[in-house]
Amino acid sequence: MKKIAIITPGGDAPGMNAAIRAVVRAGLKHNFELYGIYRGYQGLLEKDIKQLNSRSVSGIIYKGGTILKSSRCEKIKTLDGLNQAIEVLKEFKFDYLVVIGGDGSIKAASKISKYVSVICIPASIDNDVYGTDETIGFDTAIDTAVSAIDKIRDTATSFERVFVVEVMGREHGHLALAVAVASGAEVVIIPEVKYDLDKIAKKLLKDKQKGKTSEIIIFAEGAGNVREFALKLEAKINIPVRVSSLGYIQRGGSPSARSRILASLFGEYAVELISKNIKNKVVVIKNNKIECIDIKTVVSKEKPIDKNLLKLVDELG
Ligand code: F6P
Repeated sequence: MKKIAIITPGGDAPGMNAAIRAVVRAGLKHNFELYGIYRGYQGLLEKDIKQLNSRSVSGIIYKGGTILKSSRCEKIKTLDGLNQAIEVLKEFKFDYLVVIGGDGSIKAASKISKYVSVICIPASIDNDVYGTDETIGFDTAIDTAVSAIDKIRDTATSFERVFVVEVMGREHGHLALAVAVASGAEVVIIPEVKYDLDKIAKKLLKDKQKGKTSEIIIFAEGAGNVREFALKLEAKINIPVRVSSLGYIQRGGSPSARSRILASLFGEYAVELISKNIKNKVVVIKNNKIECIDIKTVVSKEKPIDKNLLKLVDELG
């Protein structure tokens, strides 16, 4: 019999609930005792912990957010906070901590893993976890952003305006790239690639000459100040440029079927690893296969952007 704690720290992602459900239900099949740590690492420090059963995860597979709640916890990044977290995990005699979260949460989990066994399940709209083709919630966030951009395209066309649409993604452009391809955007700006304002202005003016009636530029939040960019662009092309920041709508909403399936596969696989006493791994999907990699490898590397998607925007936009 093993005692497992589940936590969902940091930015929430659609499908986290499906992952919690999968870990709880698969864990119960193995006769594990399951516990939820509420409000992320902050809740861990404050011992906000309750036992979970099959009914605790009923009717949550379609819900966005996380039933375990979340928080941004600065203290966990300090030695003091880390020691306190480990003490709490030991006090409750947890055999494993299952961390469902993104890049930052996995980094903190990696430090904890020196003292308590950890399994991580990547969940983030940013898709910025090294080693996995996809994180839970990424697919839903793309859909949410694309459906908003389709509406922006209508008004952009009516007014023959240029729109710069800011999407989330923290320091990475994975979300922006996917959204740009799926929304048929003309330009994409991401932190990983330096942009050339003159080149963008030239493209937009050429498009106008060719009879294009709207332009959508997807701007990843990590690429700089979107408003400054829009002002500079407007001054160069003399066509009205409007900014629309999609913001937190990208993080909410009912998870797509694909996010739910990925969450269920990840959750079940995490429990399988625990049942085999495998520890300190991150569950990943690689070429459609669920596997795991060392948490140390994941936190020491940056996920590269998909250059094919970048090329696609250039060629098709
Ligand atoms: O990591 C998920 C994310 O939504 C990022 O895309 C964004 O930069 C960040 O979280 C926002 O964080 P907060 O919820 O602390 O404002």
